[in-house]
Amino acid sequence: MPGSWLILVLAVSSAAALAHAATVEHTFTVATLSWPRICQPGNVSITSVKGVPGPMIEAYEGDTVVVHVINDSPYNVTIHWHGVFQRGTPWADGPSMVTQCPIQPGGNRYTYRFNVSGQEGTLWWHAHSSFLRATVHGALIIRPRQGAAGYPFPRPDGEEVVLLGEWWNNEAVISSNVYADAYTINGKPGDSYGCETTANRYNRRAKFEVTGNSTYLLRIINAALNTAFFFKVVGHTFTVVAADASYTTPYKTEVIVIAPGQTVDALMVADASPGCYCMAISSYQSGFPPPQAGFNGNTTTALVEYAGAATGGQQAPALPDMPHPVDTATANRFYTSLTALVRPGRPTVPLSVDTSMFVTVGLGLRFDPSCEPTPQTPCQRIPVASMNNQSFVLPDTISMLDARHRKTPDGVYTSDFPDQPPVSFDYTNKSKQVVGSVAAALLFPGNPSTKARTLRYNATVEMVLQNTALVGRESHPMHLHGFNFFVLAQGFGNYDGNTASGQFNLGNPQVRNTIAVPTGGWAVIRFVADNPGMWFMHCHIDTHLSIGLAMVFEVEDGLTPDTKLPQPPPDLPPC
Ligand code: C2O
Repeated sequence: MPGSWLILVLAVSSAAALAHAATVEHTFTVATLSWPRICQPGNVSITSVKGVPGPMIEAYEGDTVVVHVINDSPYNVTIHWHGVFQRGTPWADGPSMVTQCPIQPGGNRYTYRFNVSGQEGTLWWHAHSSFLRATVHGALIIRPRQGAAGYPFPRPDGEEVVLLGEWWNNEAVISSNVYADAYTINGKPGDSYGCETTANRYNRRAKFEVTGNSTYLLRIINAALNTAFFFKVVGHTFTVVAADASYTTPYKTEVIVIAPGQTVDALMVADASPGCYCMAISSYQSGFPPPQAGFNGNTTTALVEYAGAATGGQQAPALPDMPHPVDTATANRFYTSLTALVRPGRPTVPLSVDTSMFVTVGLGLRFDPSCEPTPQTPCQRIPVASMNNQSFVLPDTISMLDARHRKTPDGVYTSDFPDQPPVSFDYTNKSKQVVGSVAAALLFPGNPSTKARTLRYNATVEMVLQNTALVGRESHPMHLHGFNFFVLAQGFGNYDGNTASGQFNLGNPQVRNTIAVPTGGWAVIRFVADNPGMWFMHCHIDTHLSIGLAMVFEVEDGLTPDTKLPQPPPDLPPC
C-alpha cells in the first residue's frame, strides 16, 4: 500500500535526521503590537514576540538552540530560557544585569546560543527584564533524542501545549494593579468574563480537539506573573508524568496545581462520552492573612472538543468544581505527591553535603527612601522582600557575570550572602513575634543590596527555605537558574532539622527548577554546583522579585578548561 510506504520512508528519514544533533534556529523580534482588551472596547499596545503566547521552540535532546533577538520595542529586553542548564553558556542565561546587560531599544540584537543536553520535557522562555514577561513568553519543548518513542510512558496519540498566563488591559509594565484583569489559556481568556457583547468580540476561547479513546500529553506551563493555578478538565483525570522537565513516577489526579514558573506534563485519556468539556483554571491564593478583595476570582475556561461531537448552538459546557481559592490542603497534596522516575544514568541525590544553608524567604517593610517626613505626614512603610534579611537589588553599571569575569566585583556585588538569618525566632507564628527586636531584625531588612553566595565548583549544597509570617505568610515559588534541584522534604511551620531529616526522600525525590515553598512552611533542596557562572535564585512571583526576593550563586571555575567561565560572546550587549 502506497500509504504505508510513505510512512516507512518518513520514519527512516526522520531517524536519520535524529542520529546527530541539529541546530534549531529562530529570530525573535520583540516589538509593540496592538492586542484586543478584555471586557473593554479597543486595543492595548503590548510588547511581544508575534503575540501572546509567542512562538514555540521545539528541539530534541542534545540540539543546539540559536535565537537571534532583535529589540524593536521601546523597553530594554532580555530573554531567559527557563530551566535550561546553560552548561558552558552562562552568558546566554538572560536575567537582566545578572548575566548580561539588556538589549537596548532601536533594533539592537543579541544571539542566544545554547545546547539542550541532558534534559527533556516542557520548559519555556520569557523576558527577564521589568514586567515584560507578562506578554513576552512562549513554550520551549525538548523531546527525547529518539522522538516520542523515547518517552518513559506509553506513547501519546497527540501533544498539546497549555500555557497559562495573566492579562492586563493596560500594558503590564505600566499597570499599577498586581491583580490581573484576566487569566488566559494559550493567550485566550475563555468565555467566563461575561463580556461577549463588547465590540472586540473575537474567538476568545482556546480549543483542544481530541479523538475519543486517544491519549494526549498536556504540556502545562504557568507563565503567569503572580498567580498559582488549579487546573481541571470536566469528566477527565490526569496522570502526571513530568514536572519542570523532569520525569515523575506516574501520579493520578483530578486536579493539577501549578505555581508561577513551573511546568507539569500530564497524560489525559479522552475516554468520556463524545462531547464538549470545559478545561478550567482558577487561582490558588496561598497568602495569610488571605488577600483582600481584588484578586481575580474568575474560573477561566477553554474547550476540549471531541471529534464528531455536535457543537452547533450548544450551550457552554458545565464548569468543573474548582477547589476554593485558599485550599492549601489540595495544593499541598499535589505538590508533595510527586516523586522522580528513577532511570539508569540519571543524577541521584548527593548523600553528603558540603554547604548547608538555612534561608528565610518572606516579606517585610521598609521606609520609602525618597520620602521626606514632616510632623503632619510621617513616612509610610513600603513592602520589601528578602532572603536571610537581604533584600536584593540588581546592579546598574555592569552585569554580575561581567564583573566576575573582569574580576571587578567592587561596586557591583559582594560575596557575603549569609548562610543563616541574623536571628532565629518563631518564623511562622505571627502572634508571638510581632514585637521585639528579634523579629524587627527581619521585619525591616534595611537597604537593598546585591549579594552572592560563592560556591566551590562541584560543591553539594543543601538549602532549607523557610517562609516567614512577619507581614503575611505565602507560598513563594523559588526558582534556581542553571540547575535542577532535588526536593528532599517539605512541611508546614518552623523547620526542625532533627525531625525533618527523618522525612528526607533520598531515593526518588522530585526534581525541579521551581519549588513552591509551602505557605508558612519550609522545603529542603539539594543540588550540585557543577556549572560555573552567576546563577539567579528568586521568587517567580514578579511582584516579589521586583522588591528583592532574590540572591545569586557565584559558582567558581573547576580545574579543567571546560569547567571554566568562557569568554563573553562578541555581541554581548553593552550597558
Ligand atoms: Cu523563569 Cu529568573 O526566571
